[in-house]
Amino acid sequence: MAIDKVRIGVIGVGGMGSGHCARMHEVAEAQLTCVCDTDPEAARAASEKYKVPAYARAGDLLRSRLVDAVIIATPHYFHPPIAIEAFKRRIHVLSEKPIGVTVSAADRMIAAAEASGCVFSVMYQMRASGHAQLARRIIAEGKIGEIYRTSMVVGWYRSQAYYNSGGWRATWTGEGGGVLINQAPHFLDLYAWLGGMPVRLRGETRTRLHDIEVEDEAFATLEYANGAHGYLYASTTESPGYEQIEICGDLGKVLLQGSSIRVWVNKQPVSEHARNASEMWGSPGSEEIAVAVPEGSGSHQEITRNFCKAIIKGEPLIAPGAEGLWAVELINGLILSSKTGKEVSLPVDRVRYDRLLARLKRSSREKTVVTGVRETDPQHQ
Ligand SMILES: NC(=O)c1ccc[n+]([C@@H]2O[C@H](COP(=O)([O-])OP(=O)(O)OC[C@H]3O[C@@H](n4cnc5c(N)ncnc54)[C@H](O)[C@@H]3O)[C@@H](O)[C@H]2O)c1
Repeated sequence: MAIDKVRIGVIGVGGMGSGHCARMHEVAEAQLTCVCDTDPEAARAASEKYKVPAYARAGDLLRSRLVDAVIIATPHYFHPPIAIEAFKRRIHVLSEKPIGVTVSAADRMIAAAEASGCVFSVMYQMRASGHAQLARRIIAEGKIGEIYRTSMVVGWYRSQAYYNSGGWRATWTGEGGGVLINQAPHFLDLYAWLGGMPVRLRGETRTRLHDIEVEDEAFATLEYANGAHGYLYASTTESPGYEQIEICGDLGKVLLQGSSIRVWVNKQPVSEHARNASEMWGSPGSEEIAVAVPEGSGSHQEITRNFCKAIIKGEPLIAPGAEGLWAVELINGLILSSKTGKEVSLPVDRVRYDRLLARLKRSSREKTVVTGVRETDPQHQ
């Protein structure tokens, strides 16, 4: 039956889930019909504020017949099991990032989505921003040619108070990692979306500044199938914050810094000049070109609207759930490489990573200082 509004339930109404509820009215194609949270106070507050029924268990919400779709905004480990249950009931899913903590759980989620025929999207809202859309188009159209080198550097800052704000945060059992699984996924996703997926990586993670059991700093070198190389760095130990993705090719280069984009094109392909130029100090010559950045602010609502339009009229997804696997591959691969001290081939060996995570979880210690604050990053309001 054709619908013009998608009835949505939000599962997990903490910092991010509350934000999704608060801005649902900005998406004409969506209607918030119910909420769910295992914390009775969070569930009651959202139910009163939005005048919709609240459930303590995701299963009860999914059985309520009040929803066509759900947004899952719980801690990461719950994304795959809740999504799989939703797909079994033919309910569409928009999962918060990352889609899962492990590639094996993400595989199961993707398989369940495919078997159901339902729409599966992931909240990678940065893909919707004008500069990211433009970068993607330029690279996909071959304007910078074959990619030779990529880099991603994202340095952010988080205080100990941030890490103390929730018992699940920055633990192997509650979150399944640190900066890689929590803050970096948006950029890892963009990085893979623009530069492609490497076939090998060697990485290291460290806990440098905070009293947490997971990493607050990670770095890796990457190798792609065509022999190109990449370098990535992510941390929550840096101020002022910095965000950069660079994709360099035979014909030019694209640089994203914060929300700006710069593009250079070479007058001659590097490969051609390197082989044929006769002068000793010549160069292919590059010029920065003016670009018109399309509309798109990279808001959560743009992804929610696109998700609803995909359900209503088959609009192509900006952030398909299956592509959510890319960031998880990079995260698991980097942690596996760091803990084994060895290079890792991608796709990650599912069994090895599950074994490693099980061991890390056994070493997990319960947090002694938890303030229980639920507020989302003001930059992502
Ligand atoms: N896209 C973005 O910009 C963005 C920004 C912040 C957070 N996030 C993501 O949103 C998710 C939630 O993060 P947060 O910061 O809102 O955390 P939070 O701790 O503030 O909120 C999580 C909520 O989920 C509830 N919950 C836990 N287990 C549940 C379950 N099984 N069923 C139902 N409810 C459950 C908790 O009680 C809590 O209210 C994470 O995946 C995080 O990565 C995304």
